[in-house]
Formats: sequence, structure tokens, C-alpha cells
Amino acid sequence: MQQTADVTEELARRVVTAAGRALDVALMPEQALVQASPRDGVDYQANLAMSLGKQLGRPPREVAGLIAGALELDGIADPPEVSGPGFLNFSLRTEWLEARTGALLGDPRLGVPETTEPRRIALDYSSPNVAKEMHVGHLRSSVIGDALARLLRFAGHEVLPHNHLGDWGTPFGMLIEHLLDVPAGQRAIADLDAFYREARRKFDSDEAFATRARTRVVKLQSGDEDTLAVWQELVDESTRHFNEVYALLGISLTDKDIYGESYYNPYLATVIDDLEAAGLTEVSNGAICVFPEGFSNREGDRLPLIVRKRDGGYGYAATDLATVRYWTAERGATDLLYVVGTPQAQHFAMVFATCRAAGWLTGHAEHVGFGTVLGADGKAMRTRAGETVKLADLLTEAVTQAAAVVTERSELDAAGQAEVARAVGIGAVKYADLSGDRERDYVFAWDRMLAYEGNTSVYLQYAHARTQSLLRKAGGLPEGTQVALEAPAERALALKLLRFGEALKAATSGYAPHKLCTYLYETAVAFSRFFEECPVLKASSPSLRASRLRLTTLTSHTLALGLSLLGIEAPDRL
Ligand code: ARG
Repeated sequence: MQQTADVTEELARRVVTAAGRALDVALMPEQALVQASPRDGVDYQANLAMSLGKQLGRPPREVAGLIAGALELDGIADPPEVSGPGFLNFSLRTEWLEARTGALLGDPRLGVPETTEPRRIALDYSSPNVAKEMHVGHLRSSVIGDALARLLRFAGHEVLPHNHLGDWGTPFGMLIEHLLDVPAGQRAIADLDAFYREARRKFDSDEAFATRARTRVVKLQSGDEDTLAVWQELVDESTRHFNEVYALLGISLTDKDIYGESYYNPYLATVIDDLEAAGLTEVSNGAICVFPEGFSNREGDRLPLIVRKRDGGYGYAATDLATVRYWTAERGATDLLYVVGTPQAQHFAMVFATCRAAGWLTGHAEHVGFGTVLGADGKAMRTRAGETVKLADLLTEAVTQAAAVVTERSELDAAGQAEVARAVGIGAVKYADLSGDRERDYVFAWDRMLAYEGNTSVYLQYAHARTQSLLRKAGGLPEGTQVALEAPAERALALKLLRFGEALKAATSGYAPHKLCTYLYETAVAFSRFFEECPVLKASSPSLRASRLRLTTLTSHTLALGLSLLGIEAPDRL
């Protein structure tokens, strides 16, 4: 099926062409400032006349009028009205809308073109720490990162996912020694956090153990084979746990995406050498530091990025410098994205600044930050005992809570209900995480995220299931692509369906999945109004019935595809 520009773009191109003709100005389509209009009876508006008028020293209404006079709309819309200070108001022609909507049928991409400028995007996400349970902070990175991976791939970009496991550094001395104290054959770690705590307790209280642990770090870093084998055991145990969480959450990361901190170990020495050779390093308190320009504390002191610690060890910052270099130079990434909590904003800003100064980074690098998950008390979410919330426990709870909500309404058998409870519970947790502006904190509240009304995944899943049930009852979709938009609710739904591409573009280019959430919610609302106002199975004529089934089908595909790009399932029945 033919892929076409979205409506905004289509109008914007015509508006700037007209402006060029009428006013002799050369504008880019974005400068037409075309957007969907919130006004009644207006579908789209172009807002360029105000700024253009100022620039040309002419009254905006006059400018708008001249553009309107020069517009060639080829049946897309009626000639626009000029309103207010100089808005151009468009009302799309119904026949054009009908043809456009019908053309989406049978197109698996629902009219959304692939990018003509594909990029190669290295995407760091999830990135939990070995020998620690994944906690609620890793939920956000995993869920947001995975949605971005899906959105970027759908847009036609190449995505290189990498999971920056915290698998290196001084704690591994004590962890390895602690594991060695457990008799072989009994080494499976049931509870990673308890294991970590016990290792730490011994390290703090047992001098002999602490000495062994310190020696072990040196052995690990010098590549001692026996030590590496035990370290590998720890990594494998942890990875098994991470993979369980990923499977439950529907996160697409696999073992081949693991590029832990240890992976960059062989690169660190050259990173430091090259920074030194470039004259970017200084020794400060015995540590090798870079002081990238533009970073200082409140007292005005320059802030250091510590690349080699006083004891000769490399830390978190050195490793991230190496990641920039590796993914650009060795893997040819054009874009680097790091989906990590906002508390690390300064770290990444300093890493990028250092890499730019060193000439290793010329393209786009961005810290895709996110806020904190809060408890009901408005503080970072914790268990009642005051501990961090384990992600695995949270997800199990989500499925249990969803089961209670689902069984209230469901006509499915027990196995069907269990399957739906999983999709609904996991979907709710993911959607709650994705549907707000990612940089903001949000409060984790079961009743809100599992509500059947409002901007929740359950609402969307329910709307989707309703479309499916309607299509089942209809006994299949009649052939053909004719769509008739008679009732206002039909027209409003069609307009929404045609905006899918715009929503995807906004969500993808801004790394902002919540924009897709908002769009899907609005689509479900438009469908629900259509469903109330427009009889489908009992429509007044066979052709109207067919048209309404086609709108239902398109709604169904839009919701399912949209949810799948967020990493959320859309069951056929709830
Ligand atoms: N392991 C870190 C943590 O749990 C996140 C790592 C993020 N990625 C990076 N390249 N620094 O906080």
C-alpha cells in the first residue's frame, strides 16, 4: 500500500508554497505552523501569519488572506477561513477524508512511512547491577528504553541496544570471596540482595575476609583465570534473574545485548592515554581528572570528571568515556542514547563534553533522563520495611491485582483469565511508567493504574477487545475499502485515525512515548463515542454497516500497533 505524508505535512507544504507565491518568502514546511485545531468545526489551523506579518511589517490578517488566495488544495480542504488575529482555519473535505481513511485498510503500517534518513542508534537501557536484585529504578529504564527501541525501529532506524550491566569494580572482590565460601554444588544464589548484604557484612566485620577481598580485586583486574571463572558465575546467576524479569515484563533485551562495564575494561588505558596526550587531564589529589569547560559548583570551583582514581582504579566515568568511543568509532553509531535516571544528568553532560573536547564525539549524544517512582508518601518508593522495592515482587503483585480486577468482568475460563491478568497487570505497570512525561516523577498507585476509566492501559486494552468482539460478531470484514463519514462521531474518529503517524513522529523524535499514549487514549475515547452514537451491526444500510466495520478494524489495528510499540499486549478478549 502507498505510504503518504501525514495531514499536517500535506497542508504545511501547500501553505509554504502559497506563501512563497503570494509573498515571495522561502519557508520550510515546519514554519507553516500547521497543527490540529481544538476549535469546533475546524480540523487544522496554520498559524504562520502572525510571525510572518511581523517580519514583513504587514497586518497578519492581510498576510493570511494573501496566502489563502494563493493556496492550491486539490480537494483536500475547503478554502480556509481567516479568523482571529490571522489564523488560517481548515476544514477537510469529507470525500478526501473518506478516501484517505479507506486507503489505510490493509496497510500493516497504517499509512506511516519509514524514514528516508535512517540512523544507527546505540541505545543504553535497563543496565542493572550484577549481584543485586533489579529494583524499581530499573523498571523505568527498561520500560522506557524498550519502548524507544521499538519506536525507533518502526520508524526505520537501526537500533543497537546495549545493556550496561554494573559488573566490574571493587565490590566484586568481596562478592567473589563470599561465593567461594559457599561449598561448590550449593552455589545457586536464591536471593541476590541477601547475598550482597551478607558479603558486605563480612567485609565490614571480618578483617581477614576484607584482606582476601582486596587481594581478589587485584586478581580480578589482572585477569586471573580462576577468579574470572567465579566472577562469571556471579554474572551468569544475575543475568538469569534479569532475564526472568525481562521475560515477565516483555523486554526485548537478550544476552547478546549485554555490554557490561567489564566489556570496556580493555579500552580504558587507551582512553586515559589519549586524553592525556590531548592535554585534557590534570592530576588532582592524586587522581587523574578532566575538568570539562562549563561545569562548576556553587562556589565556582571547576568540577572534575575522575578518570583514574588515586589507587589506580578506573571508575564509572572512565567506562562511560569508553562507551562513547566504542559505539561511535567501532560500531559506527550516529546517535548515542542513554536511558538513565535524571540524577545522572551531570555525569552524562560531563562525559559528552569531555568526549567532544577530545574529538571523539561529533554527532548526537543524549542522556534520555527520567524521574523517580514515588510511593504514596511522595518519597522514593520503598517497601514497608523501608527497603527498595524489588522489581520481581512488584510485577507479581501487579498480576495478582489485575486478576482481581479482570475476574469481576470477564467471561473467560480460568486459564484465559490468568493470561489476561498477566497482560493487564504488566501492561498497567508499563503504561503508568510511559504515559507521563518521562522527566517527571510519578506516584505509583495500583487503583489508578488499574482503573477501567481514564488514561490507562486497561482502558485501551478494553477498547481494543471491544473492537475485536464487534468484528467477531459481524462475522468478518466485507470486501472493499469504501468509508462513509456521515455522523460527527465517525468523522472525528477518522480524523484521529489519520493522525497516528503524527503521534508516532512526535513520540519518536522527542524520545517521548507519553505522546503516543495520549494519542491512543484519545483514539479510544473517539471510538467509544462512535460506538455509542453509531450503530454498527444494525446500521441503516449494508454499505454503512461495512463502512463502520472498516472504521472499527482500523481502530483495532491502531490500538494494537500503538500498544505493541509501547511493548504492551492487546488481548482479543478481556
Ligand atoms: N548500572 C547503573 C545503575 O544501576 C546504570 C548504568 C547506566 N548506563 C551507563 N552507561 N552509565 O544506576
